Amino acid sequence: MAESEDNSNTIVSKGITVSYGPILALDNFSVEVPSGIVGLLGPNGAGKSTFIKAILGLLTPDKGQIKIAGHNPFTESAIVRDMVGYMPEHDCLIDNFTAIDLVSYLGQISGMKKRDAMPRSHEMLDFVGIGEERYRLISSYSTGMKQRVKLAQAIVHDPNILFLDEPTNGMDPHGREDMLALIKKISDSDKTILVSTHILDDIEKVSDHAMIISNGRLITQGNLDELLEGKENLKIVKIRGPEPAMKDFAKVLEDSYEVRSVILESGQTTIQFINTDGGNDLFKLSREKNVQLRAYYPERATLEDVFIGTLEQQNGGAENGN
Ligand SMILES: Nc1ncnc2c1ncn2[C@@H]1O[C@H](COP(=O)(O)OP(=O)(O)OP(=O)(O)O)[C@@H](O)[C@H]1O
Ligand SMILES: [Mg+2]
Repeated sequence: MAESEDNSNTIVSKGITVSYGPILALDNFSVEVPSGIVGLLGPNGAGKSTFIKAILGLLTPDKGQIKIAGHNPFTESAIVRDMVGYMPEHDCLIDNFTAIDLVSYLGQISGMKKRDAMPRSHEMLDFVGIGEERYRLISSYSTGMKQRVKLAQAIVHDPNILFLDEPTNGMDPHGREDMLALIKKISDSDKTILVSTHILDDIEKVSDHAMIISNGRLITQGNLDELLEGKENLKIVKIRGPEPAMKDFAKVLEDSYEVRSVILESGQTTIQFINTDGGNDLFKLSREKNVQLRAYYPERATLEDVFIGTLEQQNGGAENGN
């Protein structure tokens, strides 16, 4: 294979299988992670963290091959350690260190010289938004602050390949936005950043490429817009009015469109249906049926929709959700 031994930052996994006793966490997992920000999306227990740990050489797969920029993480661990940064899912911080001491210490473990590690650690703590608190013990930090320090230690040695395992975990909405913005900033230079999460929304904010994993298997990967395609036609219409009029309206929709759900709440009905045309017919219909058209908008696809859509495609559309 004319595969590059160059510094393309590509991560290649071929047929990786990892089990924890009887649990098969990764099942013959093959994937090529391109450069840029890539989402590793999947529900709890899908195998995201296991995949990251396997690539990093932190656990030994039962079988399969892994290459990071052409290097084997098991036999060339020193080279790989210098070129990768890792933000683990769980706490990796040492509570009785101050943030500045810890980040600089971990920088040295990642191969930095002591005299370089300290100024660079200050720079990175500035970058993630940890101010004077950097001189306080980490044991006094909030979850959000710890997430920031975890990011700082992952990038302190300026790695070209970054693994961020659930970086927004435990953060409030403002903190999440900040974290996602930082990830975007880091990606400005030519890096590969694999971001694991179960939140589609987070990935959509930082990346347009995702790999979707479930039950230790790669379900699908590619451009997010393309993965979400087909959901665009799923529309929501909300109407208000007397109940019989709303029922009438819903009945006409059911006759002409594929209606997915009709939910009648006090004075308002929400209808989810497939519509490939504009909304003109609906305006006309609402006037005819004497209901008030309150809203009409595309339904946002969820991660579950992508799973279901992909599984349906794989089953040749035979499955119809009944
Ligand atoms: N140390 C372990 N011992 C036993 N089973 C484990 C261990 N670590 C993970 N597993 C199991 O392996 C499977 C994959 O777990 P993994 O942590 O990789 O999933 P994940 O996608 O990261 O999930 P989450 O979103 O909850 O972090 C799960 O069934 C999990 O219970
Ligand atoms: Mg995990």
